[in-house]
Amino acid sequence: MEEIHVLGKSSLKGSVSIQGSKNAALPMMAASLLHRGISVLKGCPAISDVFCMEEILRSLGAVTWWEDHDLYLDCTNAEKTEIPAFYTGRMRSSVTLLAPVLSRNKTCSIGYPGGCVIGKRPVDLHLMALRNLGVRILETQELLIAHCENMTGAEIIFPRSSVGATQQALLAAVLARGETVLINCAREPEIVWLCRYLRSMGAKIEGEGSSTVLVHGVKELGPGNFKVPPDRIVAGTYICAAAATGSEIELKGVLAEELGAFLEVYRKIGGQYEAKGGTLMVNGKGAVHPVELVETGVYPGFPTDLQSPLMAVLIGIPGRSTVRENIFEDRFQAAFQMKKMGAHIEIDGRDAVIEGSISLSGCVLQAKDLRGGAALIIAAMRASGETCIRGANFIRRGYEHICEDLEALGCEIWQT
Ligand code: UD1
Repeated sequence: MEEIHVLGKSSLKGSVSIQGSKNAALPMMAASLLHRGISVLKGCPAISDVFCMEEILRSLGAVTWWEDHDLYLDCTNAEKTEIPAFYTGRMRSSVTLLAPVLSRNKTCSIGYPGGCVIGKRPVDLHLMALRNLGVRILETQELLIAHCENMTGAEIIFPRSSVGATQQALLAAVLARGETVLINCAREPEIVWLCRYLRSMGAKIEGEGSSTVLVHGVKELGPGNFKVPPDRIVAGTYICAAAATGSEIELKGVLAEELGAFLEVYRKIGGQYEAKGGTLMVNGKGAVHPVELVETGVYPGFPTDLQSPLMAVLIGIPGRSTVRENIFEDRFQAAFQMKKMGAHIEIDGRDAVIEGSISLSGCVLQAKDLRGGAALIIAAMRASGETCIRGANFIRRGYEHICEDLEALGCEIWQT
């Protein structure tokens, strides 16, 4: 069992750089399959989800290697078309491989996606988008089996916003015949970054970042060579760490404009920040005010991935705060762990009602998902005594060096 230990009541000081974005890198890796040659993702985060995607690409016949932080993907011979559940069960975003494999090899069978247990995570919208483009899909008990000779552009209307399904549709449409219009699609920055990456490969896309995106299919794509953007969720996590410990830190390589809704809440609780170029000076000393209601929402709303890290801050602020989770129906696992530390949290459906308290005690906790696990580290930093967080492997899925970063900032934290 991999564990992270934290000695509480620490104060942070200093500067750290923000890693490349997991949620931007993974679909870019999938997109690299659309070119039969070598693509490179610069500043790719060395996290276990990226290693897992790399392993799947290798199983399809790709050759991959790292040069420092740059990930090279040679997809010249990635001709296999089967991705068993052994791989897909480990990571939800593996499902975005369906469109690229199908696009280059006309057929793909893929296991159902797994990933963090944060509620039901269906793939109906992914399949709806592909079916609209002419793909035939058989849903068996174990596998999705898809065929298509030539995908043809179409209008795809999403009944609900989905990041993954929008990416799936984009990955299919760029090499489909004719024009595809995506209506009511997701607007998250990771969609915009995927479009930029695809455009750098020669794709014709207009309107990314708005709810309607137009794709003109092209015959082929060239190699990708792109810098992975900084991870907005990791930046937000570290800002929560500063708020929870009342500390002043510097974060290098932050796109503050992608963190608008989060920074608004951070400001409401009394936190201060100053953005200068790509650097964010964060001062969490004044973060002492509860917040009446924070609701997660699709971008530009408050990101669901920062819901648990924020909760780790609010449990230590005297007064009542309410957090409402609107995206996933079972994303309060970390709250039950925080209660073991003495946090007062009542879960009522989609709402978590928090009565903040300054007395939290270190104990043994279990990480159950990636962001919830990171939130437990933050909660541990403000508790008294030592906290042991089991299930550190969940945290490594998305945080490249959270222990090293927090240690460099002065936190007593170690792994066993
Ligand atoms: C992505 C992010 C994840 C983030 C989430 C929401 C990656 C690798 N992961 O996940 O970190 O928490 O966006 O911002 O980028 N849904 C359906 N049918 C579908 C697909 C989704 O009903 O076919 C529902 C989901 O159950 C969920 C909601 O739509 O309730 C949002 O999911 P989606 O935006 O697709 O999230 P992911 O792409 O899985």
